[in-house]
Amino acid sequence: MNVSISMVNLVLFWLSFLSLTSEAVPSYRFHICSNKTTFIPNSTYQSNLKDLLFSLSSNSTRENGFYNNTVGQNPETSVYGLFLCRGDLTPDACQDCVSTATNEIVQQYCPVEKVAMIWYDECMLRYSNRSIFSVMEDKPRKYLWNVLDITEPDRFLKLAQTTLSDLVPLAANASSGAKKFATKEVNFTVLQTMYSLVQCTPDLSSFDCNRCLREAITNVPTCCSGKQGGRVMYPSCTIRYEVSPFYQIQAVAPPVPAPAPPPIPLLLPHPPGKSGISWPIILTIVASLSVLALLAFSYYFLRRSTKKKYNSLPDKNGEKWRQYLNIYKLMQAWEHWSNGTALELLDPTLRDSYSRNEVNQCIHIALLCVQENPADRPTMANIILMLDSYSVTLKTPQQPAVFILSNTEPTIPT
Ligand SMILES: *[C@@H]1O[C@H](CO)[C@@H](O)[C@H](O)[C@H]1NC(C)=O
Ligand SMILES: *[C@@H]1O[C@H](CO)[C@@H](O)[C@H](O)[C@H]1NC(C)=O
Ligand SMILES: *[C@@H]1O[C@H](CO)[C@@H](O)[C@H](O)[C@H]1NC(C)=O
Ligand SMILES: *[C@@H]1O[C@H](CO)[C@@H](O)[C@H](O)[C@H]1NC(C)=O
Ligand SMILES: *[C@@H]1O[C@H](CO)[C@@H](O)[C@H](O)[C@H]1NC(C)=O
Ligand SMILES: *[C@@H]1O[C@H](CO)[C@@H](O)[C@H](O)[C@H]1NC(C)=O
Ligand SMILES: *[C@@H]1O[C@H](CO)[C@@H](O)[C@H](O)[C@H]1NC(C)=O
Repeated sequence: MNVSISMVNLVLFWLSFLSLTSEAVPSYRFHICSNKTTFIPNSTYQSNLKDLLFSLSSNSTRENGFYNNTVGQNPETSVYGLFLCRGDLTPDACQDCVSTATNEIVQQYCPVEKVAMIWYDECMLRYSNRSIFSVMEDKPRKYLWNVLDITEPDRFLKLAQTTLSDLVPLAANASSGAKKFATKEVNFTVLQTMYSLVQCTPDLSSFDCNRCLREAITNVPTCCSGKQGGRVMYPSCTIRYEVSPFYQIQAVAPPVPAPAPPPIPLLLPHPPGKSGISWPIILTIVASLSVLALLAFSYYFLRRSTKKKYNSLPDKNGEKWRQYLNIYKLMQAWEHWSNGTALELLDPTLRDSYSRNEVNQCIHIALLCVQENPADRPTMANIILMLDSYSVTLKTPQQPAVFILSNTEPTIPT
């Protein structure tokens, strides 16, 4: 019993660690900067760049999630820069991302480069020694795809292309200077919804935004065929689609906000004569789930501590490979949970002792603790309540959004 209790404490400690760290950490994806054009340390260019980044960061709560600025009198040393936040972000979330980007790009990624670009899930920031405003640019470009395979790949791909194309005029036709952003949800199967997003920088003309997005969509079959999601990122526009929501649906709903779909209740009604999972049972389940919690923890820790995107497969004996496997196992946990086969995750000798509902409940909670969006993670008090009661309707966890494969294409394919 002592062992179980300390195990519970340990798991609860992890869970509280996960749910208490609730500040928004933007998800870094990649950066591009060429070391062929560099500035000299302590030069005017560097000091202009510093001023530019400060002005971008301090203007990052603007309504349309976009701002451009130029710093420098002399064309030789002027720096031109802009940022774009994903259209559904609140001004605060946009500011979080932009200030992270302005710090990380010079401190971590591009310390001496004159021309640089950095992408997060939430925002994009770029600067150059030439004017980059109101010009449609389609390179350098980056493709990212979801590692999970999709069933019926041809139908899925067609649906993605059609849906994204339908969004193009909505984004492109936004009035001058306004957000050029549109999202849409469509049913793929009874169980799967496709979430899609298109966005241009607001400084583009309708004509250029239209051109940029349509060109990006033509790359979808090449990059992302057969996968559950994909992205094409150009300096001037972005498209993305997934089977799990990756933007705030309500925030981008049309004028009359559509009611949010009710969360899918995980648990069936109370079993007769029982008002909740009893605490001995909880202890054993928690103990058997500690492996899952450990995986969840390592996944989360990995994201926070390295914030790196793994662009190439690491050595199979190294630490990174073990991290990969952990991520893979987390994905498996998610798949099992979403297929209703969560019992498979348990030690076979324990499987017969617990009801499917109880196991699902615990795994459900564990998955909620590793949601990308901190707001989706439960608080400690909620976890206790959830463990102790059948009456709480749990949020549906979203698939952990792990991209490990990607491709950069600096030139237009012929
Ligand atoms: C620039 O980057 C390339 C490739 O990463 C490297 O081989 C080269 O040495 C770098 N040049 C300078 C001046 O740092
Ligand atoms: C740049 O300036 C800082 C402080 O002003 C100084 O410590 C540093 O040595 C300078 N670096 C170069 C390369 O001149
Ligand atoms: C925000 O942008 C305005 C207009 O370009 C600029 O004057 C101002 O300095 C910026 N804010 C800060 C705090 O830099
Ligand atoms: C911002 O971009 C617009 C073009 O979209 C340009 O006219 C304007 O001069 C830029 N602002 C600054 C401060 O560079
Ligand atoms: C930008 O910097 C590069 C390398 O220093 C230089 O060759 C190029 O002419 C500069 N571009 C402009 C518009 O000043
Ligand atoms: C913008 O809307 C007009 C009519 O409302 C339409 O004719 C035009 O094709 C649209 N532009 C784009 C880029 O879709
Ligand atoms: C998608 O499926 C849900 C549930 O099956 C249904 O309520 C909804 O109307 C469907 N949406 C569309 C656009 O067909």
